[in-house]
Amino acid sequence: MKYFIGLDIGTSSVKAMLISETGIIRTAGREYPVYYPENGWSEQSPEDWYDNSVSAIKELLEGIDASEVRALSFSGQMHGLVTLDENDSVIRPAILWNDGRSEKQVRYLNETIDRDFLLDNTGNIAFAGFTAPKILWMYENERENFSRIKKIMLPKDYVAYRFSGSFATDVSDAAGTLYFDTGKRTWSQAMLDLLHIDASQLPTVYESNEIIGKMKPSLAEELGLPQIDIVIGAGDNAASAIGTGAVRDGDCNISLGTSGTVFVLSEKYRCDRVNAIHSFCSANRQWHYLACILTAASAQKWWIRDILNTSYDFEKASEYVGKSNVMFLPYLMGERSPVNDPGVRGAFLGLSADTTREEMTLAVLEGVSFALRQNLDIIRSLGVEVRTSKICGGGATNRLWLSILASILDVKLEIPVLEHGGVLGAAMLAAESSLNREEYGKMRDEFYKVASTVEPDSALVPYYNEKYNKYLRIYPAVKECLK
Ligand code: XUL
Repeated sequence: MKYFIGLDIGTSSVKAMLISETGIIRTAGREYPVYYPENGWSEQSPEDWYDNSVSAIKELLEGIDASEVRALSFSGQMHGLVTLDENDSVIRPAILWNDGRSEKQVRYLNETIDRDFLLDNTGNIAFAGFTAPKILWMYENERENFSRIKKIMLPKDYVAYRFSGSFATDVSDAAGTLYFDTGKRTWSQAMLDLLHIDASQLPTVYESNEIIGKMKPSLAEELGLPQIDIVIGAGDNAASAIGTGAVRDGDCNISLGTSGTVFVLSEKYRCDRVNAIHSFCSANRQWHYLACILTAASAQKWWIRDILNTSYDFEKASEYVGKSNVMFLPYLMGERSPVNDPGVRGAFLGLSADTTREEMTLAVLEGVSFALRQNLDIIRSLGVEVRTSKICGGGATNRLWLSILASILDVKLEIPVLEHGGVLGAAMLAAESSLNREEYGKMRDEFYKVASTVEPDSALVPYYNEKYNKYLRIYPAVKECLK
């Protein structure tokens, strides 16, 4: 038996997964905190990622013949800024993908430097979540910290570095920095000059399934593993697409994780010059469009756990489907795609004295789904036809949500047998690096089987079209009141 390990460095937790060529053996996970030191800021400790990864792998391997493990690979929350000094110590907490502090730097990049320059050199415009504006923020606000930077890396790359000693990243994650030329798959010197970065501070760039080195002997000994291959892996959305099977031109994958994303694979490099859709490299040597909303399953968690402070049977809300006028704008952390407005905040609208918690719960699920539709419609307007999509992420276990989403998007959702997204994609990238083509092909056919599908409800599609058109009018009408 050959075993492979996938590790997903997520925002709320790290997930570890052990697979063989025939299926998932088991998973383990550890939660860690996100710190919000100021409104709109979002930080984490890179040491937490490492310590919890090690501890999750220990649990994963209990009772397993670890000598059969061949390789380990990563999926990771994208865009986070991790900086190390000359002793490889972390200089400051990592600034995460959903941190909104760099609004001023984003304006400078998009307006003063200008969007065309950014698009020509990177394929993208600036968003507060991306790494480049955070570097400028650090340069302007923490000059002493900035002057000590010897290495700049992304979240999964920090753990990969501690595991292997190899200073590396992959094309899919690098594309989310805004100092990477997505079309050419290399760092952009023009952007490095603008950001006061020296190329020596940046990792070597690999394709996602490439081996960057062996596991360090001391860590291998601690985990009871041989010195297995470390494969760099991918940003979580590119890794999820490998995990769910969105691997051919035009394939779509939607993720309902902490963030919500719409991913569409493209065998050619293209970029959206008008809107706010990202162009990134995929983990299978192609490209993809990506739209990201900052609050998805996290809105459900906030509403049920933090506000209602209860567990909740979503079926209770289903009787209101098609009947409720309550609306929810899901901008709890500001918004990325497409409005690019880190300062805006969420809202409930249309409340009356007899509004129930069921209607408000439904509005949360619908609001996130409308936000995804707004992005999918922009991708559709770029000439991509999307009738079917894979679905993954924690929110995908809520079947009421999936039925609403299918009708709001008018898309058939395919739920893979192995519903795991990023961590599975990471394990598969590890497998790909050590199996031959035929073996990996067989494994893929097995792993990409679809368990069930959720069809749009033709009676609900027109109802949701109408509600969606109202939803679209909310942000322009109220944005100035929500800051
Ligand atoms: C994508 C993005 C998020 C994070 C979440 O651009 O910012 O999906 O990768 O982990």
